[in-house]
Amino acid sequence: MSKKILMVCLGNICRSPLAEGILKSKVSNKNIIVDSAGTAAYHIGKSPDKRSIDIAEQHNIDISLQKARELSVNDLDDFDLIYAMDKTNFDNIISLAETDLQHNKVRMIMNEVYPNENIDVPDPYYGGDKGFHDVYKMLDKATDKIVDKIL
Ligand code: 4NP
Repeated sequence: MSKKILMVCLGNICRSPLAEGILKSKVSNKNIIVDSAGTAAYHIGKSPDKRSIDIAEQHNIDISLQKARELSVNDLDDFDLIYAMDKTNFDNIISLAETDLQHNKVRMIMNEVYPNENIDVPDPYYGGDKGFHDVYKMLDKATDKIVDKIL
């Protein structure tokens, strides 16, 4: 099964770093590579948002050393599964895809829990801490399903 998983959001500082950290914590010691990227370049090289670092830490996951990077077309070849946090991210990733193989790797992450419903992981950037709790809960559920699928 697939062994290289990429999590994608807009800025790569709130949602996808959490998705990366949570999935990594569930596949440690396994031969699985997990990474994350953003569709926008605003935050390249930055650490995750403090609110994401904090909610991860409350679950004993350290994402503080991650650095934001921008999604590139090469990622569509390098990774086996590419998970978009929301529909806008999905559309932006798909717009880079040139082949059916690349296209077919791209998924809405919450479809692992609620197939075909295309539910967004809401962007928590402009909200409060509750948004980050909700994002964590959603990604915890989705990554459980991803683990079932790939291990
Ligand atoms: P993310 O959240 O896509 O989950 O990393 C955002 C981070 C930054 C911005 C928007 C969303 N921003 O507009 O700077």
